[in-house]
Amino acid sequence: MGPDVVDIRKLHAKSGLFTYDPGFLSTASNSSEITFIDGDKGILLYRGYPIEQLARQCDFVEICYLLMHGELPKESEKASFDKDIKHHTMLHEQLVKFYSGFRRDAHPMAVMVGVVGALSAFYHEAMDISDASHRELSAMRLIAKLPTIAAMAYKYNIGQPYIYPRNNLSYAENFLHMMFSLPTEDYKADPKIVRALDRILILHADHEQNASTSTVRLAGSSGANPFACVSAGIACLWGPAHGGANEACLHMLEEIGDVSRINEYIKRAKSKDENYRLMGFGHRVYKNFDPRAKLMRETCHEVLNVLGLQNDRLFKLALELERIALEDDYFITRKLYPNVDFYSGIVQRAMGIPTIMFTAIFAMARTVGWVAQWNEMVSDPDYKIGRPRQLYTGTPMRDVPADFRK
Ligand code: ACO
Repeated sequence: MGPDVVDIRKLHAKSGLFTYDPGFLSTASNSSEITFIDGDKGILLYRGYPIEQLARQCDFVEICYLLMHGELPKESEKASFDKDIKHHTMLHEQLVKFYSGFRRDAHPMAVMVGVVGALSAFYHEAMDISDASHRELSAMRLIAKLPTIAAMAYKYNIGQPYIYPRNNLSYAENFLHMMFSLPTEDYKADPKIVRALDRILILHADHEQNASTSTVRLAGSSGANPFACVSAGIACLWGPAHGGANEACLHMLEEIGDVSRINEYIKRAKSKDENYRLMGFGHRVYKNFDPRAKLMRETCHEVLNVLGLQNDRLFKLALELERIALEDDYFITRKLYPNVDFYSGIVQRAMGIPTIMFTAIFAMARTVGWVAQWNEMVSDPDYKIGRPRQLYTGTPMRDVPADFRK
């Protein structure tokens, strides 16, 4: 090693302010006017409006408008926005053929990563992100097509013919139609079930700089195609620590199976031996009850009542698990409360939605948050490419030995 070996760690330290914050525990990556969370008080606001009021008084299309445009739409604005979305619900027939390249048993999320990314190959003007009308068009296409893409991934998985979108139905009703209708028979959705799905979509629509939204922003910060950026967001969302938790939570409840076994699983989660976690519990930002989980629990009661499933085994199990965990010192001291995914799986299961579609529905809902945040970022004339630094811990500089092959 020559005399000028430099300790690169020292070089980093000299280059000015340098923060080291693995997992971004206390680092804001950007400013945003879209969503506000107070994790200690359990407050979530979209554009300043409390999530509780939005969930009770609005529908999902109004929430999409709010997140994208900053204000709730007047009746005429909503009608025109809704018409624009409906104009884009179909998929290009070439893209429909794309599905047949996937294995039949592929997870819908894996298919969605591919199909949404492939939209980049169909809408070339989307690369012109400096044009606001092109950005708006890409955003509308994504919001409109995600239900079609998700429902087709499901139909492909179960071997049924695709059901095309129907534009005389609401956003949520159309999705249920594409999931459950057959060419021979239309699915008739109970309005209360449609309303419950709409609420699930509202509760998942945005959540400031979570992992998948940060992924979309980081990918988009290089000027990348928005369809590819949302595809990256879907890939990130699928992880069990993020959106994949709803599916994992339902598997966990099924595995626990009976109230008598709850303590065994609580014990497992507390002993760190196998890194086991209670799915649907804990949140990086909420150190109080996740307000979405409260609304989801309420929706759970409503849906189970409508369907005459008040004694649903998994719901009772979930309520009891929540009660026991919230009285346990381990969960109290770490401020681990149920998050939105704890109850969403039970609601969806009761609605007849198969477990493999839970995270796909989350992705469908979050698409508006992703595109609103992406648009906010790229329309800022001063936005910069996202480029985190690192703390290098490898070998200091050294010379390649002349005889290294020997
Ligand atoms: N079960 C048991 N213990 C837990 C859980 C859990 N679900 N979550 C966190 N802990 C413990 C950790 O082991 C750690 O304990 P320690 O202090 O003794 O080491 C402490 O609580 C803090 O946990 P972190 O992992 O540091 O918290 P972080 O903020 O990084 O993680 C996360 C948040 C990923 C959501 C975590 O709580 C988790 O894995 N939960 C289960 C998965 C889940 O439900 N994800 C959905 C999140 S919401 C969403 O994405 C829509």
